[in-house]
Amino acid sequence: MYAQSFTNRPPAFYAALVVVTLLPLYLASYHYRLWHPYGGADPAEAVELSSAAFVAEWLDVHVVQPFNPSTIATYCNRTEWHPNLVFNLVDGAEDGLADARGSLLDFLFYAIEAGASIVLPGFAANGAGRNASRIAVDKMPFGMLFDEAWLLSSMAEACPQMAIYKPERDHKTADALPGTYVPKSRRVDMDSGKTKKAYLEHLDAWLKEKPDFKPDRLTLVNVERTSWQVDTRNLPQVFRRSFGQVLRTADDIRRLAAVAVQELTRKFTTHIDSSSVVPRNAFYGAYVDTRGSVASEPYSNFSAQTDAHLEQAIMHKLKVIYVASDNATETALFRTAAARYPLPIIAVSKLDLLPVAEVAALKELTPTQQVLVDFEVLKRCSIFGGSVKSSASYNIALTRNQWLADQGRMNDPWFVVHKDVGVAFDDGISRIVGRDGVYELQMPRGMWP
Ligand SMILES: *[C@@H]1O[C@H](CO)[C@@H](O)[C@H](O)[C@H]1NC(C)=O
Ligand SMILES: *[C@@H]1O[C@H](CO)[C@@H](O)[C@H](O)[C@H]1NC(C)=O
Ligand SMILES: *[C@@H]1O[C@H](CO)[C@@H](O)[C@H](O)[C@H]1NC(C)=O
Ligand SMILES: *[C@@H]1O[C@H](CO)[C@@H](O)[C@H](O)[C@H]1NC(C)=O
Repeated sequence: MYAQSFTNRPPAFYAALVVVTLLPLYLASYHYRLWHPYGGADPAEAVELSSAAFVAEWLDVHVVQPFNPSTIATYCNRTEWHPNLVFNLVDGAEDGLADARGSLLDFLFYAIEAGASIVLPGFAANGAGRNASRIAVDKMPFGMLFDEAWLLSSMAEACPQMAIYKPERDHKTADALPGTYVPKSRRVDMDSGKTKKAYLEHLDAWLKEKPDFKPDRLTLVNVERTSWQVDTRNLPQVFRRSFGQVLRTADDIRRLAAVAVQELTRKFTTHIDSSSVVPRNAFYGAYVDTRGSVASEPYSNFSAQTDAHLEQAIMHKLKVIYVASDNATETALFRTAAARYPLPIIAVSKLDLLPVAEVAALKELTPTQQVLVDFEVLKRCSIFGGSVKSSASYNIALTRNQWLADQGRMNDPWFVVHKDVGVAFDDGISRIVGRDGVYELQMPRGMWP
């Protein structure tokens, strides 16, 4: 049976596979360089090459880098590992950008603390109901949003004790223990009793309740999806900084973001240093989200959010705005509002920037994949403005805030709540407008940069 066969595989199984599958990629890029050497003599070709070089250089940069696996390794070393215990994220991660990151990282963290291996999670396909007898094959695969080879190689390096299994369509899988395990929250900031010890006791009690549970036999546990249930700021800072890096946006999606930024420099002759994480004086990034808008709340409706962004862009002397929203109508309305603004300002979206071939590629993508293009562009704008009710806005701001901290330029992003009415976060490079008790409690401590 598949389950038995996977117990016999050493944890390094996937690491070896990754090396093998990466090999052809290195070869391909080597051949590409041979055939496309930089700096041709033909001026037309030079322009072509310089845009390819821009994209390549932009892609080489990650907001939080370099990846430091040793801090995760130290944490993994403190765990007692149970090679027979395998966690399966039964419903997949949330199909929404920041929520997907949140549920994947919670799941990975819970597995590390339990000393469990995992089944590579997928994403809840739209409308798919729960089916506990199936593992991940009926979900959208992990690689649709994130870089699978990177997750496997970074986890193999950081946490070699954990095996990551990827079921194939024709594999018969072991039966999971009946029921779904709902992990006990690890938000020690909300309740000092929510420790690792309490979580492990809770898991242990759940397992022992099951008549079929035999510690010496392979045990597949269906785990319920959670988000932001770990107090990330109660962990070593270096761990908090590194852990989220195991999730990298899939290459084809990042490439679209790189092309959009490159087109932005070309169309508006804004100088953007492609190797810069947060380029100075280049463009403003706006994320508009009016879901759950309540008339009485500041910056909740569309016009209030739009005015706030335009004002901020002008204040920072930025004349180009990259705008994103889940709502295409609002993206269009935002562009119109910018065009009508008394001061010279222009707003564009990815659809305005991408060349025809890329727009066609974009339209093939799922809505979440498309949002991920915005996410990648917005993480690297000069000044970012987001909305409090959007977890994507928070994820962008908190990731950029980690970069600030890495530069030693940290300033208190929450001071602003005493200063400006209706603003939840401002660290000088990112500002989140609106107030929301639940989000403000959940995100800043529960989200991984
Ligand atoms: C983890 O433990 C192993 C074996 O005890 C040791 O060789 C390794 O250096 C440890 N790694 C870290 C990062 O503590
Ligand atoms: C779950 O999936 C299995 C295999 O695809 C199928 O036979 C079964 O009917 C499904 N159960 C539900 C409740 O959809
Ligand atoms: C939008 O919200 C602001 C308060 O932030 C309010 O003054 C304004 O009237 C609202 N506009 C609409 C169209 O509801
Ligand atoms: C999109 O935005 C428009 C304008 O604010 C609004 O009327 C519409 O209800 C929104 N659509 C969705 C799906 O939220």
